[in-house]
Amino acid sequence: MKDPRRIIIDTDPGIDDALAIAIALKNPQLDVRLISTVAGNVPVSQTTENALKLVEFFGADVPVARGCEQPLFRVLECSTYVHGKDGMGGFEFPVPVSKPIEKHSIIAMRDEIMSTEEKTTIVAIGIETNVAILLKMYPEVKERIEEIVIMGGSMIGGNVTSSAEFNFYNDPHAAEIVFRSGVPITMLGLDVTNYGRLYTGTNEKLKKSGREGQMFSAILEKYVAGTLETGLPVHDVCTVAYLLKPELFETDMKHVMVQTEGPAAGATVFHRRPEMVEGEPNVKVCTGVDEPAFEEWVVSQLCGEC
Ligand code: RIB
Ligand code: CA
Repeated sequence: MKDPRRIIIDTDPGIDDALAIAIALKNPQLDVRLISTVAGNVPVSQTTENALKLVEFFGADVPVARGCEQPLFRVLECSTYVHGKDGMGGFEFPVPVSKPIEKHSIIAMRDEIMSTEEKTTIVAIGIETNVAILLKMYPEVKERIEEIVIMGGSMIGGNVTSSAEFNFYNDPHAAEIVFRSGVPITMLGLDVTNYGRLYTGTNEKLKKSGREGQMFSAILEKYVAGTLETGLPVHDVCTVAYLLKPELFETDMKHVMVQTEGPAAGATVFHRRPEMVEGEPNVKVCTGVDEPAFEEWVVSQLCGEC
């Protein structure tokens, strides 16, 4: 097996974040070097505590760094209505005994990326604020980033407004900075993540598969992003699925811009006529997912052959 891929997860746990983090921590093909938190689904104090809870729950030796508590310009709008007041569906994790490292997420990401000649992949599953500031403050990291795999945006309309998906709605300016950075970007927007769904049958399997599965089931049952009967979209899980099983997805290179102002702020706009645009497309957009194979893969990652 080739060396595990070095990744940093920038995240706002968050129930779907939690599943993505769990898969990354459990899969030996990924080397999680740092979990950097950002405000989003719940305030950054809570996302940081949730990241510590997850690292301790899985007994992982991974540092957690606390990041930005507000978007660059807009005022954060949390989504406790989807993830619960504590962001984890009220599941009774043990109170974390560990603390986040002293460094701010942005410094921690820079130091981790610059600590090795190997390239690092950033898995960005919250608002892009930390990542945008990292790229602006420390441009030297760009050549050492393999790619930034982002859950965010949408080519089929938003889940907060009719135009904007939550992560890009909250910080469209940061998303635009990242999309213009010149770093290889892979975007998993609602086009595919709405179809990265788990159903009742999977929940029943998880429930019967021991301590971890019971936790997964407990938080899934409180995740108000849909229903288990009609399929719960575990948006952020699509990023680690793309890294670990890219054949689940169809992709296409596109010129993508992020609307930063006005009522459509956060919308991702792509050019349908690339021949009319100067320069190369800036984003690899995931345009389709094999939904049954995705759910089967997630089950295999979360609880083996349960
Ligand atoms: O729109 C879905 C995204 O917003 C996911 O990252 C979810 O965790 C929320 O942050
Ligand atoms: Ca998230």
